[in-house]
Amino acid sequence: MVLRYEAPSMTRWTARGVSSAYDSSFGYVSAQGAPLVELLDPQHGERVLDLGCGTGVFTSEIHSRGAEVLGIDGSAAMIEKALAQYPGLDFIVGEGDDFTVARPFDAVFSNAALHWMSREPDMVIANVHAALRPGGRFVAELGGAGNCAAMIAAMSTAWREHGLPEPELPWFFPSPAEYSTRLEQGGFAVRLLEYFDRPTPMDECPDGAADWVRVFGAPLLEGLPGDIVEPLLRRVNELAAPALRRETGWMADYVRLRFAAVRR
Ligand SMILES: C[S@@+](CC[C@H](N)C(=O)[O-])C[C@H]1O[C@@H](n2cnc3c(N)ncnc32)[C@H](O)[C@@H]1O
Repeated sequence: MVLRYEAPSMTRWTARGVSSAYDSSFGYVSAQGAPLVELLDPQHGERVLDLGCGTGVFTSEIHSRGAEVLGIDGSAAMIEKALAQYPGLDFIVGEGDDFTVARPFDAVFSNAALHWMSREPDMVIANVHAALRPGGRFVAELGGAGNCAAMIAAMSTAWREHGLPEPELPWFFPSPAEYSTRLEQGGFAVRLLEYFDRPTPMDECPDGAADWVRVFGAPLLEGLPGDIVEPLLRRVNELAAPALRRETGWMADYVRLRFAAVRR
């Protein structure tokens, strides 16, 4: 397993260096977000910003429906790949909690990215608000409360058993009540909010939960003594298996929050 999420610091987590493997190996992230484009329902000539666009799969899909698009992502490697894949489209490197746009957009779209923007979620919402025209739409999906609960419990226990401090998790998994309150306080009217389980086959993780941690929790492994990592991950697998390993293979315990809100 060579995919890695690298973090420059404990407070800024983003995907770097994974962009080329990302499309092929973790394509389910994009595949499962397809209904979100239907919810966005992009119209011909609309201006749509894709926040946390990754390699631009959805940016391109939204463009193919006739919208003008801009993809923003915190990872230069992702943006490099997006520009190479979709040379006619606009992509820039930018942080969710620190971006501005020159002209307002009709809609902001975001798939599987807002939960990584955990540092200042209200600032992300404020920036999206500022990027939209009045009446503009904010349509997004992120991990919701309880996302990966069994995975995270296994990690916590394994870390504790190895005498390590509780892992400082890089994600923000809000409840529907919490996130709709943040949206309303940020100047949005919430039109739709869905909160649902989405068990997801971990076809790309032959070594199960251990592989998942290697990819999505890589920053948590940084700085650990080299000889501890493999036994630690073996223990994560043992602890997670009763909840996540089925006869057909490993299944991630994903919980999603999907919403459509309108800028007041
Ligand atoms: C799981 S990927 C989803 C990519 C894309 N939206 C998709 O569905 O294929 C999450 C993306 O969020 C980006 N990201 C993480 N933290 C970010 C931040 N603070 N600001 C902007 N982008 C960020 C990562 O670089 C990564 O490309």
